[in-house]
Amino acid sequence: MYAKLTHKLYLLEVKGMKVVKKVIYSGMQPTGVITLGNYLGALKNWVNLKDDYNCIFGVVDLHSLTVRQEPAQLRKQARDILILYIAAGIDPEENIVYFQSHVPAHAELAWVLNCYTYMGELSRMTQFKEKSSKQGENINAGLYTYPTLMAADILLYQTDLVPVGDDQKQHLEITRDIAQRFNQVYGDVFKIPEPYIAKSGARIMSLQEPTKKMSKSDTNPNGYIHLLDEPDVIMKKIKRAVTDSNREIVYSADRPGIKSLIDIYQCFTQESIETILDRFQGKGYGELKQAVGEVIVEEFKPIQNKFKELQKDKAYVDSLIKKNSETANYLANKTMRKVKKKLGLPPLVK
Ligand code: TYM
Repeated sequence: MYAKLTHKLYLLEVKGMKVVKKVIYSGMQPTGVITLGNYLGALKNWVNLKDDYNCIFGVVDLHSLTVRQEPAQLRKQARDILILYIAAGIDPEENIVYFQSHVPAHAELAWVLNCYTYMGELSRMTQFKEKSSKQGENINAGLYTYPTLMAADILLYQTDLVPVGDDQKQHLEITRDIAQRFNQVYGDVFKIPEPYIAKSGARIMSLQEPTKKMSKSDTNPNGYIHLLDEPDVIMKKIKRAVTDSNREIVYSADRPGIKSLIDIYQCFTQESIETILDRFQGKGYGELKQAVGEVIVEEFKPIQNKFKELQKDKAYVDSLIKKNSETANYLANKTMRKVKKKLGLPPLVK
């Protein structure tokens, strides 16, 4: 059914020689909006890397089920996120953008990997500890085995590199451990992936509590900026960002609010911290906040325009979803067939 490859495997030209590009895999949960943190920690890097790699970006909707979701809202958010990937600059004709739930092999491989993952390993996951402390009664098995589904996402595509924010580092480590354990028993089934965590933007802090990570599940919307926030909303949120009672602009861990604003500014301008400090020498927090708000608005504007345009073109987006999920299924099933054969599961009879 899915034995169709609609994308080419792209070649890279290195010193006149053609080589197959390495594979990048990453994804985002459609549990809410794409925040400035998701953008700087992940999406912006994906766009920067997209021409040099064969890229596969999932909207990892099955992961979202670990928290109760409102069905109509989940459906909308998932589609919006896929469109935002494209609006931000991912080319769906060259790269693969798809919904995780359209590729059944994710859930299939996750089950297999569950059988090669230890309870002790899963219990050590910081995100599990954090999330289970927040979710009251609903500490479900999915929340616990979340890392094996994430490992399946990555390993299905024989991924070389996984560009993520700092908070996913531990999940990448367990993915590597599971893959190595499996390979030790069955030979070279999985490529061992490397994390790609950029030096800047890997951990963007909340605008209201600058010692905490910016999160889309924050109950205070002033804590985060949404990729689709209107310019005046962005300016307002930055102006309200919590700083301190000092006046001078310095870059220091014990001034987390102002440090965080400088970090955001640095991600957008790509200037060194020294250059930024020189620029704002003798100026006040108000001027820095104005400048930070403006660089965000300027970069988000074309993405928002493209998003609105694509949202209207239902037929085009649907055709991309179809074509991209065919390619993702083709690639994922290739690995899945190999896994089943190695495990000794009986082959299909034709
Ligand atoms: P998710 O949906 O929470 O976040 C998506 C990406 O955004 C990064 N990120 C941040 N980066 C910098 N500062 C922040 N404040 C910030 N908040 C989030 C995350 O590190 C992530 O890269 N488990 C993953 C989704 C996932 C996945 C995968 C990722 C499922 N399967 C396979 C890579 C490969 C998650 O919950 O990301």
